[in-house]
Amino acid sequence: VRIAETIAQVREILLPERRAGRRIGLVPTMGALHEGHYSLIKKCRTECPVVAVSIFVNPLQFGPNEDLDAYPRPIEEDLAGCEEQGVDLVFRPQVAAVYGDSILTTVQVRELSEPLCGEHRPGHFDAVATIVAKLFNIVQPDAAYFGEKDYQQLVVVRRMVADLSLPVQIVPCPIVRELDGLAMSSRNRYLSDEERQQAPAIFAALRAGAEVIARGERDARAVIVRMAERIRAGGATRIEYVSIVDPRTLADVAEIAGPVRLCVAAYFGSTRLIDNLGVDAGGSEH
Ligand code: PAF
Repeated sequence: VRIAETIAQVREILLPERRAGRRIGLVPTMGALHEGHYSLIKKCRTECPVVAVSIFVNPLQFGPNEDLDAYPRPIEEDLAGCEEQGVDLVFRPQVAAVYGDSILTTVQVRELSEPLCGEHRPGHFDAVATIVAKLFNIVQPDAAYFGEKDYQQLVVVRRMVADLSLPVQIVPCPIVRELDGLAMSSRNRYLSDEERQQAPAIFAALRAGAEVIARGERDARAVIVRMAERIRAGGATRIEYVSIVDPRTLADVAEIAGPVRLCVAAYFGSTRLIDNLGVDAGGSEH
């Protein structure tokens, strides 16, 4: 695997690939790679002869009381993992290599950035959209791979690409789960043993929600109440939101009449976890 720390190095490494017409795929990450990330890399590998992974803990997408300093940065492990996966290029810049002294320009995807996590993490999706736009401009990938675990992020990025006519294909990839249903996340490593035992309650709640819909419940409120009960019973310290939204607009749905996305953010101890599940009007999961 080749490693680039500057924008110039990325461009130099990728220029011959681009000239040769080889399809370049990008997997943007903040490192602390796990099987979820590796599933994106594997999918990218099957579609692109050139696989680039970015590892950058983007400070601008963390709020003032969030876990920027604590965020895991096991770079040697990550590089070994990329090597093992046959990644061609890892872009692992320092903050200054990306932002210089400061950045005055931001990309904002209005409306889609506002509900769900956006309501509780002001400015988060502006920072995500901005760094992703920058990464697209730096790497100029033909395709980029995003996990559905961060469903709102995927919707925001897809809309940014459409609105700005960016020449990149966004490839969504399914959530990878532990055997007990917990969605893989770099933040799972913050969980104590007890919290780790409790955290699958989120997925259990999502499935419970799907089951209630499958049994014919159409009132989103009633489904949300059932899901919240399940998460509370599972030992969550705090529920940030349980929402049922339109999968495209992310607007709250009152009556379940078509496909919806069940979305949850909850704390176990001081660790904030998110998860989601796509469900059609008949309650089938997708
Ligand atoms: O999903 C992430 O890890 C980050 O939000 C991303 C897309 C790499 C942007 O910093």
